[in-house]
Amino acid sequence: MTSRRGPLADTGSQLVRWLMLGGLALFALALVACDGDDDGDGTATATQATASPTPTEDGEDPEGTPAGPGPEAFTTPAPGEGPRSGGEIGEPASEDVIAALDIDVVPGGAGLPDGSGTVAAGSDVYATNCARCHGATGTEGGIGPRLVGEEGPWEPGKAITIGSYWPYAETVYDYIRRAMPFDAPGSLSDDEVYAVVAWLLAEEGIIEDDVELNAETLPQVRMPNRESFFACWPEECRPDVP
Ligand code: HEC
Repeated sequence: MTSRRGPLADTGSQLVRWLMLGGLALFALALVACDGDDDGDGTATATQATASPTPTEDGEDPEGTPAGPGPEAFTTPAPGEGPRSGGEIGEPASEDVIAALDIDVVPGGAGLPDGSGTVAAGSDVYATNCARCHGATGTEGGIGPRLVGEEGPWEPGKAITIGSYWPYAETVYDYIRRAMPFDAPGSLSDDEVYAVVAWLLAEEGIIEDDVELNAETLPQVRMPNRESFFACWPEECRPDVP
């Protein structure tokens, strides 16, 4: 039973097991080919399911179809019902569908929606929607990366956080509205996104606790790592490259 002997000693019996499995599979194939009755053996059912375009003849779900966690485990909207549902495949996208997808916010603030959010409100938004993956205070991380707790500008060896790394507050807004919560993107209101961005920036010491973020104030935020990012495409970067 030592771990050293285990794999070698098992080789023989594993071979026998594979041979038996191979035999079973051949037997099952023969059953399908002869259109014989399924004798209830799981191998035959599985082979039949892969070999025929419809899983079973009577239309029932084949046994063993993974049920997955129940719908209550996710906050994700059902297909076709989410705020950014693209409608049916093959149907032209409506103006509404396009508008719901056309949500980019760029440095300078173009694309920021109406609405606003405070740091205090953002604390609740964070606790409800983000803490389970990014940690109770955002410094821990978990399923998602840590979000706060490192000073910028970023340099090698420092953790990447919103304060240390992100060059623009506008794209923090864009990213969170577009992609977070990871399991329910698009589920936050514009105000909730303003609020949680405000809370994150306040946690990083970038804005005061009483600042309210909106389409006017958010572009005024100067991020600590701003200067580490620069636009130089195409000529200015590499004058040596023709
Ligand atoms: C179900 C887990 C989950 C939840 C809930 C969640 N996130 Fe995330 N988050 C992730 C994961 C995973 C990543 C990394 C995604 C990647 O790298 O593509 C991430 C990345 C991020 C990033 C980018 C970090 C960086 O610097 O690269 C930000 C910002 C962020 N999340 C904010 C939020 C906010 C705000 C909320 C709540 C509104 C939230 N997340 C909710 C899992 C989650």
